[in-house]
Amino acid sequence: MALLEELQAIDEQNVMATYLRQPVAFVRGQGARLWDSDGKEYIDFLSGIAVTSVGHCHPHVVRAIQQQAETLLHTSNLFYTEPQFRLAQKLCAVAGMERVFFCNSGAEANECALKIARKWGKRKRGEKADIVTVEGAFHGRLFGTLSVTPQKKYQEHFEPLLPNVVIVPRNDVQELEKAVNQRTCAVILEPIQGESGVHPLHMEFLQKARECCDLQGALLIFDEVQTGMGRTGTWFMWQQLGIKPDLLTTAKGLGGGLPIGACMASDEAAEVFERGDHGSTFGGGPLVASAALATLEVIEQENLLQNARVMGEYLREQVSSWRNYLPVQDVRGVGLMIGFDLKPAVARHVVRRGLEEGVVVNATSNATIRLLPPLVLTKQEADEGLLRLQRAIEKALYDYEIEKALAANNESDNPDAR
Ligand SMILES: Cc1ncc(COP(=O)(O)O)c(C=O)c1O
Repeated sequence: MALLEELQAIDEQNVMATYLRQPVAFVRGQGARLWDSDGKEYIDFLSGIAVTSVGHCHPHVVRAIQQQAETLLHTSNLFYTEPQFRLAQKLCAVAGMERVFFCNSGAEANECALKIARKWGKRKRGEKADIVTVEGAFHGRLFGTLSVTPQKKYQEHFEPLLPNVVIVPRNDVQELEKAVNQRTCAVILEPIQGESGVHPLHMEFLQKARECCDLQGALLIFDEVQTGMGRTGTWFMWQQLGIKPDLLTTAKGLGGGLPIGACMASDEAAEVFERGDHGSTFGGGPLVASAALATLEVIEQENLLQNARVMGEYLREQVSSWRNYLPVQDVRGVGLMIGFDLKPAVARHVVRRGLEEGVVVNATSNATIRLLPPLVLTKQEADEGLLRLQRAIEKALYDYEIEKALAANNESDNPDAR
């Protein structure tokens, strides 16, 4: 049996059915390229959903992991290990923050921020517990983060969720102003909403969030799990917006492919946590911390922030130029975080056709394609990937026309169906 079929059979039998997987088994990656179990090569315009930002198996990251694996894998957070503290210092420096708590994922980083916010609310403002979140946000799938992810499809089967969550419409400055009041302990937002289709929040809305938090003594949380670690062309998005949050979370690209999350804070916000208030068995362990340190070094040494800006601009320009002959709309995003819409809504066909053509992309809905290429992407790889993507869109539109014609045919064959 071929590897893919074997894995699919195991999936059927032994794995919880939480993912809708594409029928591909990847076995190797290098830079912006992946290879599947049949030896077919792909341009990776997704980076494992914004994770492998320095490319697959970057030699500097691989070396750091190998060396650390041979030296020390784990001791717990009851003791000091050098990689965690070196990473803490370096990450706080590049992020412009003062303190950090390490965990294992984006959702965990946000859980940490929410706990700080709630305790801040109790300490500084009496029993003020409201957390304001934005429509369309995605902050994770644990109970706290799910509660501030106001999307029916994620929440409906798991209620009751955390109380005291207030939802404001995306970019509605007046509603935001009303929602943030004496009862508010924090506002949480993604500067660019990623999972809901790459929607940058308006400058005016972000500024208002800062202003309202200052006025009410609430904490502003930027969830930069996806926008952080150079993806938008600066280490963190707040640095190009000029709006500094009190709490800043990240994960995804931080570990160069290994699982690590971080909740960073100003001294004042971090102060509310006391010994025993929060913890994680694996958080900031030596292996992942070494990988993350090496990842930060690669981003610096290879000037990847600049590359993210230049290649992001190039990709957006090229995709926008397709508008002359393909139904591409509203090309958006910052740096190498790119979204665009297709009308008719054929994004899911595009993902499938893209794999056939040898390019990995993501559909956040059937209307929207999201591109999150590695920050190491070269112009040649961009051009190859774009050509494949363009062919995939053409084929997806063809599929759509055939489906439409078949549906019309079925309807005329069966008048009762009308
Ligand atoms: C903005 C944002 N926050 C949080 C998360 C959750 O991260 P994780 O899947 O690592 O828990 C994601 C994941 O897609 C995200 O995009």
